[in-house]
Amino acid sequence: MKAEKTKIAVLVSGGGTNLQALIDAEKSGIIKSGEIVLVCSSNPDAYALTRAADNGIETHVLEGEDDLLKQLQSHGIELVILAGFMTILSKEVIRHYPDRIINVHPALIPSFCGKGFYGLHVHEKALEYGVKVTGATVHFVNEIPDGGKIIYQKAIDILDDDTPASLQKRVMENCEWILLPKAAEKVSAEIMASKE
Ligand code: GAR
Repeated sequence: MKAEKTKIAVLVSGGGTNLQALIDAEKSGIIKSGEIVLVCSSNPDAYALTRAADNGIETHVLEGEDDLLKQLQSHGIELVILAGFMTILSKEVIRHYPDRIINVHPALIPSFCGKGFYGLHVHEKALEYGVKVTGATVHFVNEIPDGGKIIYQKAIDILDDDTPASLQKRVMENCEWILLPKAAEKVSAEIMASKE
């Protein structure tokens, strides 16, 4: 008998364009070994919650770390995807999901990453430094912020007239929205295979 698809929870805090890319990838069959069964948000006003609800996915607004672990366990979650989740996970959650939590970061790790590097801020720092390429990284999450094993990276050139906003848009469109679904499928397939 073929194993069941990997049960995925996506953790969000904001607009949810990466969540949308995951939903679209599941619909189009790019993600075929996993299914998104839960979306948890650290922010009750996150537009990502509307995207999930519009696609018939169960949503939950988090009330702290204990609540997160409870939600993941009660839904039988096997893979956790951080898609613009702006809260650092507790050691407790990380310990329960070794090599089962992935994150998308909007820079080429080990540059412009770690504590305090999130969202638009990352692109401001890259422009301030004057690097000529940047991109995105999808990696496993461990106890070191942005320090887990890298799964995929993609680079783009920085243009002379880039602003933080224009750079963020290009990194999302050309890197994040491609790499995150691809990594979600890779890890989901590995988890599925481990159950066969
Ligand atoms: C994305 O650019 C994501 O890489 C970044 O926040 C944005 C969320 O956008 N995440 C981090 O900076 C984590 N360190 P979204 O809500 O539209 O997906």
